[in-house]
Amino acid sequence: MNSIFPPHRRPRRLRTSPVMRDFTAETDLNPSRFVLPMFIADGLDAPRDISSLPGVQQHTTDSLLAAVEGAAEAGVKAVDLFGVPLDSDKDADGSCGIAEDGVLNRALSAVRERFGDDVLVIADTCLDEFTDHGHCGVLTVDDRGRTVVENDATLQRYADMAVAQANAGAHVVSPSGMMDGQVQVIREALDDAGHQDVSIMAYSAKYASAFYGPFREAVGSSLQGDRRTYQQDARNLRESILETQLDIDEGADMVMVKPGMPYLDVLREIADMSPVPVATYQVSGEYAMISAAAQNGWIDLEPAIMESLYGLRRAGADIILTYWAVKAARLLKG
Ligand code: PBG
Repeated sequence: MNSIFPPHRRPRRLRTSPVMRDFTAETDLNPSRFVLPMFIADGLDAPRDISSLPGVQQHTTDSLLAAVEGAAEAGVKAVDLFGVPLDSDKDADGSCGIAEDGVLNRALSAVRERFGDDVLVIADTCLDEFTDHGHCGVLTVDDRGRTVVENDATLQRYADMAVAQANAGAHVVSPSGMMDGQVQVIREALDDAGHQDVSIMAYSAKYASAFYGPFREAVGSSLQGDRRTYQQDARNLRESILETQLDIDEGADMVMVKPGMPYLDVLREIADMSPVPVATYQVSGEYAMISAAAQNGWIDLEPAIMESLYGLRRAGADIILTYWAVKAARLLKG
């Protein structure tokens, strides 16, 4: 009988030095596949810190442009913009998210004008930041007297919003509201408006998640209650395949799984079935929890960031949205 001692197979050989480990690494991260989510707020004189997202700010137009420039210098060439309107501009239909002079559309124009095609301008296409009730769509009372988010009426708003964002200069629109049929309606509206080259990054498998907590502070969300009638249930995997397949059939150019870390199995499944690039969003709660542990001295921040990003990449993400995009790009440069 062959003894296992001494072993012929010695996997440790490939771990003997940093150069050898780099040489044999199975997974790479490339900053040109990072997306930096950014917040642009109305009514600010100076950028404002977001307490639950240390290091992330609500921007003025000037500070936004400076931050985009810094990101591009670090190698991050894609930004995803979220608008934070004045509370007094919010209404039941989220009109200020669609208006040409709304905070998000003004920011999209400013960034596109300054950076042209050197930076990919991605727009969050969703109403929740702009509605006074905080839901991702318009509300109606159904025949049992329940207040619900009305799918098809919301679709029309999304179509108008996507066209307004494309007019403002977005290269990519990113519907995140999880309404049925949203990709198809947006694709048709963009095409009708002559925006055939504007692409759609669809939040396809987006879960109703407790990990969005800090984001809601970041955008000054007005939401009471939850989004469980439109975002996915955390217990489901197969459902995300259906959602993603529908989005691809409707014309999504890229699909997304969100959040990241609690859904690595979903990400792997989607990466295996998708014929289009797969993104994942390392959401605010993932950022906040690692940041908070690091601030307490409980974990080492930089290795934890890189491990979290390699995990997403290893699970199949082509594109990663992360508030650490710039920091990670700098760490990768060494
Ligand atoms: C909805 C939207 C949300 C996030 C991105 N787009 C919040 C939600 O669905 O409640 C969360 C992102 C994050 O937590 O970092 N427009």
